[in-house]
Amino acid sequence: MEIRSLYFDGSILHILDQRYLPFEVIDVECRSASDVWEAINKMKIRGAPAIGVAAAYGMYLGLRDFEGSKEEFIKKATELKSYLDSARPTAVNLAWATKRILDRILLNKEKSVEELKEIVLEEAKNIEKEDVERNFKIGEYGSELFSDNDTIMTICNTGELATVKHGTAFSVIKRAFEKYKNISVIALETRPYLQGARLTAFELKEAGIPFKLITDNMAAFIMQKGLVTGIITGADRIASNGDTANKVGTYMLAVLAHFHKIPFYVAAPLSTIDLNIESGKEIPIEERNPDEVTHCMEKRVAPLGVEVYNFSFDITPHELITGIITDKGVAYPPFKKTIKKLFES
Ligand code: MRU
Repeated sequence: MEIRSLYFDGSILHILDQRYLPFEVIDVECRSASDVWEAINKMKIRGAPAIGVAAAYGMYLGLRDFEGSKEEFIKKATELKSYLDSARPTAVNLAWATKRILDRILLNKEKSVEELKEIVLEEAKNIEKEDVERNFKIGEYGSELFSDNDTIMTICNTGELATVKHGTAFSVIKRAFEKYKNISVIALETRPYLQGARLTAFELKEAGIPFKLITDNMAAFIMQKGLVTGIITGADRIASNGDTANKVGTYMLAVLAHFHKIPFYVAAPLSTIDLNIESGKEIPIEERNPDEVTHCMEKRVAPLGVEVYNFSFDITPHELITGIITDKGVAYPPFKKTIKKLFES
């Protein structure tokens, strides 16, 4: 079965509603910027690169019926960018994609409103196409770090569903599986949203990659038993110094990897690196609805009235990261220097 997180049919942005996978395949039709905002905010689509591409099309959907002067068009595009960026705060790919659209508009100010609309659509398509190419390269570079008989642990979902194609960390796993003998995976279920159990398990199964699904709190014991040779995760935002925001639980894995002397890699396209911030302290961490913690698959499991923390992401300090795999190659410590070099290459 072909998995497509999203596609634009020339008029409607189709989003595969990830809240109902793996059992139901529901197509969400986005016809306006607010449809896209809603899809991102409610996690019908999720994963840093995928929400970036969705937001780029959201800009187009919000501008295509615009009528008015060029100044008003630019004002509307600027407002739309802020609006779409507000759908989710942590993954920088969202604001990165909307900025690319806005920058293209500003660079072509001399064009007519109708021409600018075409430029916006063209840029959204570019962002979509580039995502496929970038993720393919991540798979090529990252797979070099693995070899026969490796068992790779991962958290959350970083596959085709989280991107346009290939995935990020998942792209590395898939390429390693194609290249080497006896590759297997340990996937964390990833409470509370269960991206690991619902989405990664689904994608691993579809790809024919052997894997075991575990609850998040089993990770330490599995490492202690020597069942893991490498860990790879995606990222939602990487600061200039290499500090990485990713699905909550990633930091826990990095600490455990350090203790057990297991290499810990992060895989992400350059669009996930935020050079405007120095360290992870500056990354806003999304807090989601408490119901996600008090409930499991929409069934209440905690007593009424309990207070919860529901941080959706955490920050892994750069000191705990062995290497950052990007579409331009692998960066090693000191990340401040090596990340900068990747952007210059
Ligand atoms: O809350 P989500 O499901 O959007 O979180 C996704 C992750 O944390 C992924 O690991 C990250 O976006 C990288 S996906 C290629």
